Amino acid sequence: MALERVDKLLANTGRWSRKEAAELVRAGRVTVEGTPVCRREEKFPAQTRFRVDGEEISTEEHTYLMLHKPAGLVSATEDPRESTVLSLLPEHLRRIGLFPAGRLDKDTVGLLLLTNDGALAHALLAPGRHVDKRYLVRVEGVLDREDERAFREGMVLGDGFHCLPAGLEILGAHEAIVTLWEGKYHQIKRMCAARGKKVVFLKRLTFGSLTLDEALEPGGWRPLTEEELRTLRERR
Ligand code: URA
Repeated sequence: MALERVDKLLANTGRWSRKEAAELVRAGRVTVEGTPVCRREEKFPAQTRFRVDGEEISTEEHTYLMLHKPAGLVSATEDPRESTVLSLLPEHLRRIGLFPAGRLDKDTVGLLLLTNDGALAHALLAPGRHVDKRYLVRVEGVLDREDERAFREGMVLGDGFHCLPAGLEILGAHEAIVTLWEGKYHQIKRMCAARGKKVVFLKRLTFGSLTLDEALEPGGWRPLTEEELRTLRERR
C-alpha cells in the first residue's frame, strides 16, 4: 500500500497548502483515531481518516475541485500558446495530475470539474453516458418557439452532425437555459448559429449532479464537498 506524508495528503485535498498543513500538524490539530500526528513527515495510506480540529477529513487517493472558469483560459493541462485553467491553482495542486473533466471554450465561463480520477472522468464523459449539462446563453437575435422546437427535436448541424434532442428554456428575448446531454465541439454556438443566432455569452451552470457554487468568483475554486462527490459517483 502506497504511503504519503501527512502534509502532502492534507494539501492534496485542496483545502490547505503544504505549509498550512504542516502548521496544523505542528499545532497538534491533526489526529488519527484520537492520537495527534506529531510530524509532517509521518507517512500514512491515502485512505486514512484524519481529523482536523475534530472534523473528519477524507484524504482520498484522488482530488476533485470545482472551478468557476473565467473567460480567456483554455480547458487543458498545457498549451504551447495559451494560459490554461491549471494556472489558477497553487503550485502544489499543479503537480498532482489534475485535468479538466470536459472542455469549455476559451470564452465560455462557469462550472468546470478538475480531477485526477481518470475513471470517474471517463464515466462522466464517455459517449453514451449522456450526463446532462445546463448553460446560460445570451444571443444576438430574438429567441422564439421555433428555436425551442428545433432544439427539442434534435438539430442537424452544417457538417451533418445529428444532435440529440436538447432543452431550450427561453428566459427573455436574448437569453435562455440550454440543456445538453452530449458535448460536441462548440455545440451550443453551432446550434444557435444554425438558428441564425450568434452566442455572445455562455456560462455552464451544472454538470450532472454538480451545480456551480455562486459564491465562487470567476477564477475561484474549491474542493468538492463529500456530499457532492458522493452524488456525482452515485449518478455517474
Ligand atoms: N457549447 C459551446 O459552444 N461552447 C462551450 O464551451 C460549451 C458548449
